[in-house]
Amino acid sequence: MKTISIICQKGGVGKTTAVVNLSTIFSKKGYKTLIIDLDPQGNVSTYLNFDKNTKNVTNSIDLLSGVTEILTGELSENLSIIPSNKEIARYNDEKIIGGAKISKLKKYGLFNEFDFVFIDTPPTMSSLVQEGIAASDYYLIPTKPEFLAIEGVAQAMSFAKATLKNTPNVNAIFLGVLLNQIETRRASYEEFLSELEYLLGDRLFKTKISHLTEIADSPFYGKTVIDFNKESKARIEFYKLAEEVIERVEKNEKIT
Ligand SMILES: Nc1ncnc2c1ncn2[C@@H]1O[C@H](COP(=O)(O)OP(=O)(O)OP(=O)(O)O)[C@@H](O)[C@H]1O
Ligand SMILES: [Mg+2]
Repeated sequence: MKTISIICQKGGVGKTTAVVNLSTIFSKKGYKTLIIDLDPQGNVSTYLNFDKNTKNVTNSIDLLSGVTEILTGELSENLSIIPSNKEIARYNDEKIIGGAKISKLKKYGLFNEFDFVFIDTPPTMSSLVQEGIAASDYYLIPTKPEFLAIEGVAQAMSFAKATLKNTPNVNAIFLGVLLNQIETRRASYEEFLSELEYLLGDRLFKTKISHLTEIADSPFYGKTVIDFNKESKARIEFYKLAEEVIERVEKNEKIT
């Protein structure tokens, strides 16, 4: 079982979009996949049309309260969810990790039936994001090609590093930075890209996701990129991204 959290304190960079589309593709590939939503906004449920108030389903506040078993919501074949609950907002203001609770549940084997777990996190530097990082084998940082993005990525990277340094017995690996919502025709794009490549080297994902109306509109219809036809750019790019995520994970597994 491998856990990947998607983090960035900057809002609207595509964290939830990445979680929703990657996990759906992973489930279609046959991996048993779980999404954990640690964002009080609860956007994953909205994107995937899942009723957060479904009875008897474990939610993220339950995880933080130390459950001993989980009952996940079922989204489709191989795809399950632990939805968010707005009560976790109270953890969103805390700056210091309260003991890596979800990481402990993982060690007890609560998520063992899954091949991959994707964790969506809020746009904050809070204990919720720290919970996500501490419970993960890998973390991925999405960003948009805009003026303050590089600063945002650097801040996310150092937040993750500090979290890992200050939390005993956790060791998530930085999977890379995903450049999302690119517009290659924009004059500033090439300059932005070369600066990011210079700073990150191969930590920048080769696959980039274009700014596409179909991606922006898909949640309105409860759709993900797998619902688009095979020639759709959004679908092709996200499948490529899924392949690159798998490649990067496999490469790390060989080294470690
Ligand atoms: N590649 C893309 N092309 C077009 N629109 C996109 C793309 N990626 C994301 N969006 C849109 O941008 C908005 C923000 O995306 P998303 O909700 O995934 O960001 P987020 O980082 O999870 O935001 P938050 O920090 O608030 O949780 C959404 O309306 C989403 O549909
Ligand atoms: Mg989000």
